[in-house]
Amino acid sequence: MTLQTIAFEKREQLKQKPNSDQLGFGKYFTDHMFLMDYDEQKDWHNPRIVPYQSISVDPSAMIFHYGQTVFEGLKAYRTEDDQILLFRPENNMKRLNQSSKRMSIPEIDEEEVLHYLQQLIAIEQDWVPSAEGTSLYIRPVVIATDPNLSVEPSKTYTFMIILSPVGSYYPQGIKPVSIRVEQQYTRAVKGGTGTAKTAANYSGAYKAQEKATEQGLSQVLWLDGIEKKYIEEVGSMNVFFKIDGEVITPELNGSILEGITRKSTIELLNHWGIPVKEQKISMAELHAYYHNGKLEEAFGTGTAAVISPIGELIWENEKLVINEGQIGEVAKKLYDTITGIQTGKVKDRYGWTVEA
Ligand code: COI
Repeated sequence: MTLQTIAFEKREQLKQKPNSDQLGFGKYFTDHMFLMDYDEQKDWHNPRIVPYQSISVDPSAMIFHYGQTVFEGLKAYRTEDDQILLFRPENNMKRLNQSSKRMSIPEIDEEEVLHYLQQLIAIEQDWVPSAEGTSLYIRPVVIATDPNLSVEPSKTYTFMIILSPVGSYYPQGIKPVSIRVEQQYTRAVKGGTGTAKTAANYSGAYKAQEKATEQGLSQVLWLDGIEKKYIEEVGSMNVFFKIDGEVITPELNGSILEGITRKSTIELLNHWGIPVKEQKISMAELHAYYHNGKLEEAFGTGTAAVISPIGELIWENEKLVINEGQIGEVAKKLYDTITGIQTGKVKDRYGWTVEA
């Protein structure tokens, strides 16, 4: 790795930091941000840390018209002895490049960018909150900046990393959610962009989410886009079911995002000797397991919530109440272990945490 010299322009007047009980998700941003540019001659160049500010992008920039963009999401946590830990960040860098490949965006040097991220966090270390459940959410994003309306990949890009202190996802304690099985809309199809972390996968889901919200439900369960049979994801998370003592998650099929919490969940279950399978599972099969009394737990996994237990599934006017609407034993153990490792409270036997 050849590190480019990173310029640092310090903000003159630092912002006032919000109280940890006001944080919410993605509402506050730190004093500085990271930027880097790409063009065909210079490749990725001019890495710099500057005061957090608006950026100037031409109205004809390709990001606005054809949505050529990718992003990532990871968190930094403050431990009780004031260390700052990142959770498996090399996986996020790798996935950023996988998303970029899919979206015809030039790849970054993963090690180099991780090093820049660590420098940014070192500068912003006072922004990493310490209250229970809080963290510093890290949002790397690449946008296509060519001022050109042709439908083709941009020749110039900007890479940014912004940081946002975020509150506990469960201020009132971890609570199972009610989910609507989505029959009309599709999140992604094999061969599409479902495995990439790209904007349209998220905004394209709003319509289904609106319908769930109207019915007082939290999220939707996504089925495959072709047969509308097989379970894929829940909301913006991967999904797991405990059925008759065995844990099942939909296999990565070309339309499911390769979650890092998903991967950590599978690795932990294997380590604990709990059978876990990545396989196709249809909603009809799940329904049959429910009526045979074999569906024991259901939960989503993702960076934002870590583990999100599913208490109810609404499918074709039927309500399936899972584990009496309570968090299951496996979901609880996973939540406690993953958040424990992330915050340094549980020994990291897997080498997942990296000091920022
Ligand atoms: C996650 O739960 O990790 C997500 O993908 C949500 C994020 C887009 C806010």
